[in-house]
Amino acid sequence: MDTTRPTPGLRKGIVLAGGAGSRLYPLTRVASKQLQPVYDKPMIYYPLATLMMAGLRDILVISTPQDTPRFEDLLGDGSQWGIRLTYVVQPEPKGIAQAFLVGEEFLAGEGVCLILGDNVFHGRMNLDRIVAEFRHGARIFGYPVLDPERYGVVEFDADGRAVSIEEKPLRPRSRYAIPGLYLFDERVVEITRGLTPSPRGELEISDVNRAYLERGELVVEKLGRGIAWLDTGTHTSLLEASQFIGLLEARQGLKIACLEEVAYNRGFLDRAGLEATTAAMPASSYRSYLERLLKEGL
Ligand code: DAU
Repeated sequence: MDTTRPTPGLRKGIVLAGGAGSRLYPLTRVASKQLQPVYDKPMIYYPLATLMMAGLRDILVISTPQDTPRFEDLLGDGSQWGIRLTYVVQPEPKGIAQAFLVGEEFLAGEGVCLILGDNVFHGRMNLDRIVAEFRHGARIFGYPVLDPERYGVVEFDADGRAVSIEEKPLRPRSRYAIPGLYLFDERVVEITRGLTPSPRGELEISDVNRAYLERGELVVEKLGRGIAWLDTGTHTSLLEASQFIGLLEARQGLKIACLEEVAYNRGFLDRAGLEATTAAMPASSYRSYLERLLKEGL
């Protein structure tokens, strides 16, 4: 019988923002990949907004020894958004799943929602409900793409149940890539500890997912065309992500992943808090946007 304590909804989030970023060289010589702009904001704003919109206020940022201080400079302790940000260094990029080991103290026996710092989502995923109702096991997503071999790939049976998970397979068994957004219960640390590093020397997130799959405790939700999951891994896809965000923002006059606005909408900041945060910004279109929202109503 399984005697582990069920997680009463998730309260903790991790943004994993390390890695070499070598594919974007020379952009990443000085500023890491997740600090690059996606249109009008640093890339990490988008995954951070995704976690905040999901209702998570206790968030750990993991990065490299060189970049962690830069993220601290950029994001601070989170109090300007009514959240708590803490930081921990991943000494070497030894795999996405290593986040659970370097973040063990932060997790303190709780489950977690992990998002990769280079993953940009847009659209209604109901993540707030999913996070609040999460109890046990693991939950990930499947997103149809034309090039699944570049990602973790999930295969479904005729009833829509996940049957296999493979990391960057040469011959993918389905078109469903696994985006970098994962919900795990508190056993994820122990499961990761039991993993053997892959041939490339990494603790693979796909191995964690497979461990839950083999226990019959993995739920995979297919995301449809109403959700954008954007790639930022190449110069072209980074440009396209900027164009996508820029297009929507210009059309609607509303920003995507404006952390102050998200914080206000989620009730993490009250109006006075938002006014104070806005007043502390230098003159910019970003500040003008928030001033306009304060004047016209959010
Ligand atoms: O984007 C989704 C994909 O992310 C998943 O479909 C794959 O299953 C998963 O393995 C991962 O694939 P990538 O090829 O994108 O992994 P990459 O090594 O590029 O790492 C993804 C991000 O995580 C990247 O921004 C760097 C960061 N990272 C990666 C590793 C291995 C770290 O911070 N530390 C690490 O040790």
